[in-house]
Amino acid sequence: MVTKKKVLVLTGGGDCPGLNAVIRGIVKRAKTEKGWSVIGSIEAFNGVLKEPMQLMKLNNKTTAGIHVKGGTILKTTNKGNPLDFAVEQPDGSWTTSDRSDELIEKIKSIGIEAVINIGGDGSQRISQKLFEKGLNIVGVPKTIDNDVSSTDFTFGFRTAVQIATDSFDKLVTTAESHHRVMIMEVMGRDAGWIALHTAMAGGAEVCLIPEIPYDIKKVVDHINSRYKKGKGFVNIVVAEGAKPKDGSVTTVISDEVGYENQRLRGVAFALSAQLKAAGCKADIRETVLGHTQRGGTPIAFDRILATLFGVKAFEMVLNKEYGRMASYRNNNITSVSLKDAISDYNYIKTDNYMVKAAKAIGISFGD
Ligand code: F6P
Repeated sequence: MVTKKKVLVLTGGGDCPGLNAVIRGIVKRAKTEKGWSVIGSIEAFNGVLKEPMQLMKLNNKTTAGIHVKGGTILKTTNKGNPLDFAVEQPDGSWTTSDRSDELIEKIKSIGIEAVINIGGDGSQRISQKLFEKGLNIVGVPKTIDNDVSSTDFTFGFRTAVQIATDSFDKLVTTAESHHRVMIMEVMGRDAGWIALHTAMAGGAEVCLIPEIPYDIKKVVDHINSRYKKGKGFVNIVVAEGAKPKDGSVTTVISDEVGYENQRLRGVAFALSAQLKAAGCKADIRETVLGHTQRGGTPIAFDRILATLFGVKAFEMVLNKEYGRMASYRNNNITSVSLKDAISDYNYIKTDNYMVKAAKAIGISFGD
């Protein structure tokens, strides 16, 4: 009997529409090569670290039709960094320990040839560290935030923009009916891509993004000028990481053990208070879209991009292109070194062509 070569697949960090399409793409491409089998690790690397290991066979049967489904059949977590793993002590307190050697040992012990890590910047940082420690690994960039560098787009981003735009459209009619200012808070972490694209698609009057700290007086002036012209309503899109000039981001405290990120949330309410304090007389309502932006079925573009990434990732394994990440560049699928990909973030530059166009059609960034 011929021993099959095994590739291990996992999804890490926050979920994102299109994860299942990547998994299916890998499985379908692997099927066309003789002698390969695909195994999934449940909940990122935790599936391997657990005793007994929690793994799943990935084949046509287990992945049929999943490209249409949101979430990830492999589950995910952002509390499973193997290099800084939360470990409970006998007294109930928590410390962290580096379990990367144990992880690599376990992966090798079950005869894995290579690993495909589908995740955002945090996950790809882990990929690079594991690669440096000798693991055969390739990355696939995912995130609704679109903040991973070295790729023009991550899958999931456009679905999030579509969801946000659909909500925005609904807020426009109610803003108009009540002559209100409607503030809609979108995700994106320290990148304003979701906000910028939604503001453009929806036709917002104001778009506030992390890359351009806002002057609240300028925002109020813009709102007042709209009301003076007789158009008595305003729709604002604010990115969760936006902040006023000389101010800071709005956060909530997380008590989740092992959770490494800062939780950005509530800027819509902070902005509402700032607008009032700066003299905005209109009635204001706030909407926080939250995790709806990550849920549900991916739009066609993301299903396609995710499938292309899945095919590419498996081909990178075939070609032993380890330490690299699949990337979408200039309408083409290629690969870049993980080291380059994690050396920077994809933030909006203030001279970005879309920012310029948005300003040209009258959208205020409060700058
Ligand atoms: O990175 C994706 C993202 O949805 C961000 O836009 C957001 O700030 C964060 O994850 C929320 O994370 P969690 O699901 O852990 O609350």
